[in-house]
Amino acid sequence: MPESASYSSRFQNQADVEAYESREYGKASYATHVWQWQRPILQRIIQDSLRGRKAPARLLDFACGTGRVLACVESLVAVAEGIDLSENMVARARAKCRQARLKVGDILSQPDLLQPAYEVITAFRFLLNVEPALRRRVLLKLRAVAREPDGLLILNVHGNSRSLRHPAVLWRRWREAARPTGAMLNEMSPAETKGLLRASGFEIVRQFGFGLLPPTLYRTPLRHPASVVDKLFAGDNLWRNCSIDLMFVCRPV
Ligand SMILES: C[S@@+](CC[C@H](N)C(=O)[O-])C[C@H]1O[C@@H](n2cnc3c(N)ncnc32)[C@H](O)[C@@H]1O
Repeated sequence: MPESASYSSRFQNQADVEAYESREYGKASYATHVWQWQRPILQRIIQDSLRGRKAPARLLDFACGTGRVLACVESLVAVAEGIDLSENMVARARAKCRQARLKVGDILSQPDLLQPAYEVITAFRFLLNVEPALRRRVLLKLRAVAREPDGLLILNVHGNSRSLRHPAVLWRRWREAARPTGAMLNEMSPAETKGLLRASGFEIVRQFGFGLLPPTLYRTPLRHPASVVDKLFAGDNLWRNCSIDLMFVCRPV
């Protein structure tokens, strides 16, 4: 049994894997829109950080899931690794990735899963939903294997409590209390994330924001104009602290 048992059990069964791939990342879903804006920025950050480097670079995609992120970044480095607790999620990643080395296990109880000194570590859609007590423990493990002093941690928090999604989350929490569905309704603010990163030995060097408008619009005929507006405001700009989906670029301190 992994130490991080409750969030980890969420993606263990095949039905959850299918739902993640076909519903959460369905063709026109909100998450797919966000990823379309995020992907080129992520690739550019990694390319820029490795430009001019002579030695081969090593990347870890922590909690790689079905390989969505890993498949898009593996070709940018000499060695790409993905680690996740769910065998079923990793089975999908194996089918998507061409060269990444994929491992199933818990970095808290199996430190041998990690290599020393990664140039780049990515961790997408993990931190927000994992139990708060585990967040710092996992970040400290990642800190211990981030290359000094120039390794990058690129961390995604996909529910900003300071965004326009917040009222809908409050409403859904209220409904959830009456009729529980198991929906994940966690949120973190940019300041909270910054404090956690700092306490784990990372400093934020850049922050990007994606999605200003309420995601419910993407389930209406207003989807197209909403996506045009959100695309326009995506990135490292004045609006990043009130965007729904946040991407932090961090260095070890
Ligand atoms: C929402 S999915 C995100 C997957 C991928 N990073 C992405 O953005 O598409 C969360 C993933 O975290 C994994 N996970 C949960 N707890 C974990 C842990 N303690 N160690 C490694 N992976 C974990 C789950 O198995 C699941 O695949």
